[in-house]
Amino acid sequence: MQTSTPNDVLLKRSLAAVWHPCTQMKQHETLPLVAIARARGCWLYDCDGRRYLDAVSSWWVNLFGHANPRINAALIEQLATLEHVMLAGFTHAPVVELSERLARATGGALGHCFYGSDGASATEIALKMSFHYWRNSGRPQKTQFVSLAGSYHGETLGALSVTDVALFRDTYAPLLRVSAQVPSPDWRRAEPGESAADFALRCAAALERHLEAHHACTAALIVEPLVQGATGMAMYDPVYLTRAREICDRFGVHLIADEIMTGFGRTGTFFAHEQAGITPDFLCLSKGITGGYLPLSVVLTRDAIYEAFYDEAVTRGFLHSHSYTGNALACRAALATLDIFESDGVIGANRTKTAAINGLAAALAAHPRVRDFRNTGMIWAFEVGDDPLIGRRIHEAALEREILLRPIGTTVYFMPPYVITDDEQEMLVARTLDIVESL
Ligand SMILES: Cc1ncc(COP(=O)(O)O)c(C=O)c1O
Repeated sequence: MQTSTPNDVLLKRSLAAVWHPCTQMKQHETLPLVAIARARGCWLYDCDGRRYLDAVSSWWVNLFGHANPRINAALIEQLATLEHVMLAGFTHAPVVELSERLARATGGALGHCFYGSDGASATEIALKMSFHYWRNSGRPQKTQFVSLAGSYHGETLGALSVTDVALFRDTYAPLLRVSAQVPSPDWRRAEPGESAADFALRCAAALERHLEAHHACTAALIVEPLVQGATGMAMYDPVYLTRAREICDRFGVHLIADEIMTGFGRTGTFFAHEQAGITPDFLCLSKGITGGYLPLSVVLTRDAIYEAFYDEAVTRGFLHSHSYTGNALACRAALATLDIFESDGVIGANRTKTAAINGLAAALAAHPRVRDFRNTGMIWAFEVGDDPLIGRRIHEAALEREILLRPIGTTVYFMPPYVITDDEQEMLVARTLDIVESL
């Protein structure tokens, strides 16, 4: 008789007690859950002692490794001081310092940090603030939002209304507000011979036509700058954002930069929108903000937008809240994360890692089964085959080779923690090549 391992025991209990996210639970009849006991650096260790290289940074949140000693130390100190206090009517040092430092990271162009917990709550905040700004400014008819084809901004109802991923959206369509989608500048859709920049400009012209017709009822354009993650790591030229900024300004439409995934160095600059030389009207941040430790999200905006809410009338204020808004532990983890950026020259060091991984991946990129190999900063992606179910095979083959990959349809991607070592980079690329060859 086969004996149950600690992993088996925990996964059985989990399947009985936990409804796992983004999952058809029945699939776990044939695809075992992995029960993680501990983690360190880029490695996750399961309850049976097997290890997995976290090549997706645990859903794109981890930056400086699991159990990072510096973030741990900051959190332990914070735990002994203040774990949480409500942010309405109260404040505390970690939330003030974090807000000041995030504003400085935008060159002082944005500030007035409004906190939520997960990414989707930041999207909700930005959409509501944009609409409310126009209402406070005597333009209540500006109630519509525009997003890019294939966009993903989260799964609460407001965020899902501006998300364009059929798998997540279609079931709930009757509950959602209608929003408009304009063509994505994803360079894979360019005509043969057309550059990524030319294609981006062509897509910007489509945005211009849309806003020309609909600006009077449009509050904001929301975009994932440079990389549309959840639709399959679609990458585009920064010139799209430069043009989008000009077009939004011309038509009096807000630009919301959803940098929930792209922020904190992921695309090679601290914020992705810097590569377009623009400032958005709203900046949504989450995921890497705490180094992957605790849920925290924030929306930054311009002084002029903040001022439109500042009034004697209570209802002109932004009466939105979440219980854990500005949680002190999460803010302290975020401060420790910013400290690491500052003291370790992370953006420069990542450039070296990007070049190294691109060098290692040359054979993978050229493999006959691999299409559209692409890279932006610390994100790599490519397509394998046409079978939408290939992702599961690759996921399982990767686990057998001590790698955590979680393909999106036919898109395989790497989004490793920034602390990935030379040996780990080599292992990741070599074992992925081995998987591609084995298919
Ligand atoms: C660009 C973007 N926006 C919003 C979200 C939603 O964030 P959360 O899952 O924390 O609600 C995500 C999550 O992947 C994202 O990638």
